[in-house]
Amino acid sequence: MGLSDDRRLQRALEAWQPNVLNWWGDIGPYGFQQKDVYLRTATSVDAKGWAHFDYVKMPDYRWGIFLADRNPERTIAYGDHKGEAAWQEVPGEYRGILRRLIVTQGDTEPASVEQQRLLGATAPSLYDLRNLFQVNVEEGRHLWAMVYLLHAHFGRDGREEAEGLLERRSGEPDKPRILGAFNEKTPDWLSFFMFTFFTDRDGKYQLASLAESGFDPLARTCRFMLTEEAHHMFVGETGIGRVIDRTLELMQEHDTMYVSAWGGISLPLLQKYMNFHFSVSVDLFGSENSTNAANYYTMGLKGRFDETGQEGGSLTADDTYTVAALAGETIGTSEESALHTLNERLRDDYVADCQKGVDRWNRAIRKAGVDFELKLPHRAFHRDIGQFATVHATPEGKLISADEWRAREHEWLPTEEDEAYVRSLMIAVREPGKYASWIGPPRRGINNKPVDFEYVRLN
Ligand SMILES: [Fe+2]
Ligand SMILES: [Fe+2]
Repeated sequence: MGLSDDRRLQRALEAWQPNVLNWWGDIGPYGFQQKDVYLRTATSVDAKGWAHFDYVKMPDYRWGIFLADRNPERTIAYGDHKGEAAWQEVPGEYRGILRRLIVTQGDTEPASVEQQRLLGATAPSLYDLRNLFQVNVEEGRHLWAMVYLLHAHFGRDGREEAEGLLERRSGEPDKPRILGAFNEKTPDWLSFFMFTFFTDRDGKYQLASLAESGFDPLARTCRFMLTEEAHHMFVGETGIGRVIDRTLELMQEHDTMYVSAWGGISLPLLQKYMNFHFSVSVDLFGSENSTNAANYYTMGLKGRFDETGQEGGSLTADDTYTVAALAGETIGTSEESALHTLNERLRDDYVADCQKGVDRWNRAIRKAGVDFELKLPHRAFHRDIGQFATVHATPEGKLISADEWRAREHEWLPTEEDEAYVRSLMIAVREPGKYASWIGPPRRGINNKPVDFEYVRLN
C-alpha cells in the first residue's frame, strides 16, 4: 500500500521493523533461519499478487501490509450507526475499545509463532516443515498488519501497545499472552495440527466478525488476513487427515485398533487430543452472556459472522437467541437477548464449521470399514470461561461431580503417558518424499509441485 503518502507513519514503521526482526530472531522459529524455504509471499491483494511462490530465507520474507480494496460506498451494516458511511478514521468515543480489540487480536499472532518455535526440529517431512514456516511467516505478517493499524490510527498509545505485542511471551507467567489458549504449549506435531485446525479457526471467526467492523481500515485488513488463515486451517485439517490415513493403514495391516506398537496414533488417542484442543479453543469466544459483545455490536465495531450476508437484516434489542444453559443438574436451553449472546452465536458458527472437518475425517474412517467415529466434545466439557467453567461435564455433556471428573479425566484428555508417547514419535524426517511413521503423505504438493519436491533446502 502507498506508505510513502504518509512520511511520518513510514518512519515510525521503519523504526519498528528492527524490533520485529529481533523478536523473530529471539523467539521465532528455532533453526533453519538461513535455509531456503519454498514460501508463498503475498505481493498485492489481487488474485495474481497474493500467491507468489519462491525459495526465501525466513528473515527475508516480505512482511507486507495489505488491506482488501476499499469500497468507497461501504456503509455500516448494523448497530446505532447503521447506514452511515464506514469510518476511515477512529471515532473518538470508541478509540479505547477499538484499540483493545486490535491488541487482543494482534497478540494472538506472535503468540502462535512462539508456541510453535521448536517444531522445526521434529518435522515429519520437508513438506510439513515448509508448511510450518509458511504459517509462521504469515502470523508474523498478521502481527505487522495489526501494528500498522495501531501506528497509523492510535498515536502514542498505539505505539506503546505495539511494543507490548513484542514484550509479552506465550506461556511466561509474569508477562503472558492475553488469551489462555495462546499460553498453552504446542509441544509436538499432533498438537500443531490440532492447533491449526481448532485454534486458527477461532482466528477465522474473530477476523470475520472484525471484517464487519465499521472502522474500515480494520475491516479491510482482516478481510485480507482471512485468505491466509484458510491455509492454516488447511494445514490442520489435512494434517489430521493424514494421521488418520496412516492409522487406518496400520490398523488394516495389523488387524488392531491400537497401533502404537507400530508407531501410529490410535483413533481414541486422537480423540483425546481433539477434546483438549476443541475445549481450549471454544473458550476463546468468551462468556455466553456478554455486555461487551452487545456493546461492540451496537457501536458498529464487531459484527456477526457474515453480518452483511445475514437474512433478516441486522439485530435489534428485541431479538432473541437460544443458547445452552445450566438448568439444575442438567444442561438445557434458554432464550436470551440476541445482542448479549453474540459470543455464543459466533461459537455456534465455529462449532458447525469444525464439525464439517470432523465429518470429512469420519468419512475416511467409514470408507476404510472401521467402526469408529470421531466426535467434537460437548461445549460444556473442560471449560475455563463462561457458565460451564463452574461445572464438570463428560464429552457427551452429562454433568458429573468433581470426584467423578478427577477419576475419569484420563479417559478424555491426554495423560502424561499419552503425551510422552506422542513425543516419542516426533522424529525428524528430512528426505524429500519421506514421512514419519505416524503420518501419511499429502494428496498433492504445494503450488502443483510434486510431493517429493525439496520444500526446504537443507544444504
Ligand atoms: Fe493469524
Ligand atoms: Fe493463523
